[in-house]
Amino acid sequence: MPAHRTPTEPTPAQQTSPAQTPAPRQRGSHSAADFDTAFAAADVIGGWLTRDQARALWDEARRLPAGSRIIEIGSHQGRSTVVLASAAPEATVVAIDPFVSGPMFGGLATKDTFLANLRRCGVTDRVELRQAKSTDLRPGWTEPIGFLYIDGKHDYWTLSDDLRWAEFLAPGARLSIHDAYSSIGVTLGLLRHVLPGSRLRYLDRTGSLARFEVGRPTRADRLRVLAELPWWLHNVGIKVLLRLKLYPIARLMGHTDTADPY
Ligand SMILES: C[S@@+](CC[C@H](N)C(=O)[O-])C[C@H]1O[C@@H](n2cnc3c(N)ncnc32)[C@H](O)[C@@H]1O
Repeated sequence: MPAHRTPTEPTPAQQTSPAQTPAPRQRGSHSAADFDTAFAAADVIGGWLTRDQARALWDEARRLPAGSRIIEIGSHQGRSTVVLASAAPEATVVAIDPFVSGPMFGGLATKDTFLANLRRCGVTDRVELRQAKSTDLRPGWTEPIGFLYIDGKHDYWTLSDDLRWAEFLAPGARLSIHDAYSSIGVTLGLLRHVLPGSRLRYLDRTGSLARFEVGRPTRADRLRVLAELPWWLHNVGIKVLLRLKLYPIARLMGHTDTADPY
């Protein structure tokens, strides 16, 4: 995954100006900021979530009853955390991230940025940070989950384990996965566990943000997963071209950006 991509291309350390800061909202209040205001605050946070994908997460969080628990696997600087917490003032977002080191994710300094972003957006009291790997937390987890968002480590094995968090979702509850049909590990995990499975049915996707619902998949649901595979192969091809800096060829394939397809 290359550098962050946002409409304004912020650096990881970039912070918003006070003028962009929405007023903090009280827990228990029924008024939620509308999406545009919430996304304006989230959009200056480094990350890979597009506006349309943020809207899709927002809509999922908005449909939850008060007191729900949202699990977010992979929080980074809080771009998606802020969207989810802003959409559902009466829910709790459990944000799981070990803050891995390296140039991509920035290690423990990212935790400070994450916490500062939550404070700036007035959502600190709606978010419980668990600084841990999702795979270490999951075996001891016992609580019901209202909405699950997976955007952590993108290898096949971690995604396979992360899908097991869906066992805590009730029938009809939703699960969204970022980089579905764009990352090799994530897509192989979906093909291995969701395609032949009987508990999650594929709804749709916003770019690479795929939405699933707890429910028995029909044959048509499974076929729609398979129908995404050409798009997946296209994205993998684009990523190879970008790594090789063959931007003109990527453009010929319809990808005009230097960032990965999300
Ligand atoms: C793509 S970023 C998440 C972006 C975030 N959802 C957003 O919208 O900005 C992936 C995150 O996953 C975290 N991560 C890596 N391994 C993880 C694991 N085993 N469990 C949970 N998070 C992990 C990384 O530290 C990184 O912050």
